[in-house]
Amino acid sequence: MIRTQLLGIGSYVPDRVVKNDEIRHLNDRHVAQEAVLTETDDAWIQQRTGIKERRYVAEGTYTSDLALEASRRALADAGVAAEEIDCIIFATLSPDIHFPGSGVYLQRKLGIADKTQCPCFDIRQQCSGFVYGLQMADAFIKTGTYRRILLVGAEVHSHSLDYSTRGRDVMVLFGDGAGAVVLGPKESDDPRDGVVYTRAAADGTGAEYLYLKVFDISKAPYLQYDPKDREHNQMMYPHMDGKRVYVRAVREMNLATQKALADTGLTWADIDWFVPHQANLRINEQVAQLAQIPPEKCLNTIQFYGNTTAATVPLTIDHWRQAGKVKKGDLVLSTVFGSGFTWGAAIFRV
Ligand code: COA
Repeated sequence: MIRTQLLGIGSYVPDRVVKNDEIRHLNDRHVAQEAVLTETDDAWIQQRTGIKERRYVAEGTYTSDLALEASRRALADAGVAAEEIDCIIFATLSPDIHFPGSGVYLQRKLGIADKTQCPCFDIRQQCSGFVYGLQMADAFIKTGTYRRILLVGAEVHSHSLDYSTRGRDVMVLFGDGAGAVVLGPKESDDPRDGVVYTRAAADGTGAEYLYLKVFDISKAPYLQYDPKDREHNQMMYPHMDGKRVYVRAVREMNLATQKALADTGLTWADIDWFVPHQANLRINEQVAQLAQIPPEKCLNTIQFYGNTTAATVPLTIDHWRQAGKVKKGDLVLSTVFGSGFTWGAAIFRV
């Protein structure tokens, strides 16, 4: 039977490292000022989230630019030419512009727009985007619809954060980055080959606990922005009820992890690595404890990159692969949770 195989993986983060001490001094254009503009500190951020630093793009860099770099690396890793891609799935909450989606920009930047005219799907499941996209790609490949799918998660968060004490609970968490995989079909009867399992879930009653309303259609025209009056610019920034998100994330990630094992009959003896979404190191540690995951199998990168939303899973796998930990053919269980609420889990061979 046809199974879906990961042919290659790649990631990209911008060069600029923003440490916790620096973030207190940044203005809306990410330029450090002498004054402290946000009351926060390294000890608070590290203790509550595990984050030490994150990456920020240079001005004028789009999400599709980060996606392009990650895609090139994934294609090279797969030994697949860009022209062979017959479908792009682009997961992001920070598209280049409101529409069209970023997938078509990525297609154009890859130089394959007129050559392939491949379909470009943009999906909007925030931190769950990679697992949602993997489920789509798996279905497309198993049904023979497409043969070379480029699945990308990429985000530029730094341009839409509230650089002030008011926004500190969200602002310190997020970073910019991208991860990509190339997927294709493989004839195999081994149920533990390739993409073994995917499950996606959502609960829309949680939509108001983490959102960015910049395109709220009840406002005409979309937003009334006054750069001199921060109080009137709430719609420009993400808002979060951190405690509710935290509690629900621990619950759903634990349950989704346990369900993935129950549904497949696999145990931690079969799985090489647990790669959770990277929102908060404490969330991941609690999930690992509840789901009884061996600590040496848990991979995190939030310390270095913060939360890069749809990018965290491929970015974390690629980071630890480059460090020599993750090897080709290893079996990964990944669990994600994000705004929506949305969540999911997947088991696949890298
Ligand atoms: N620096 C310093 N102090 C901060 C701060 C910051 N960056 N952000 C918030 N605080 C302050 C709060 O104002 C509050 O002060 P007060 O007690 O004087 O009112 C205090 O710290 C405690 O805030 P609280 O919100 O209770 O902290 P917390 O322990 O819940 O941690 C989060 C906050 C955001 C780290 C945590 O709720 C979290 O990680 N939630 C989940 C986030 C997440 O996963 N988001 C993405 C989902 S995909």
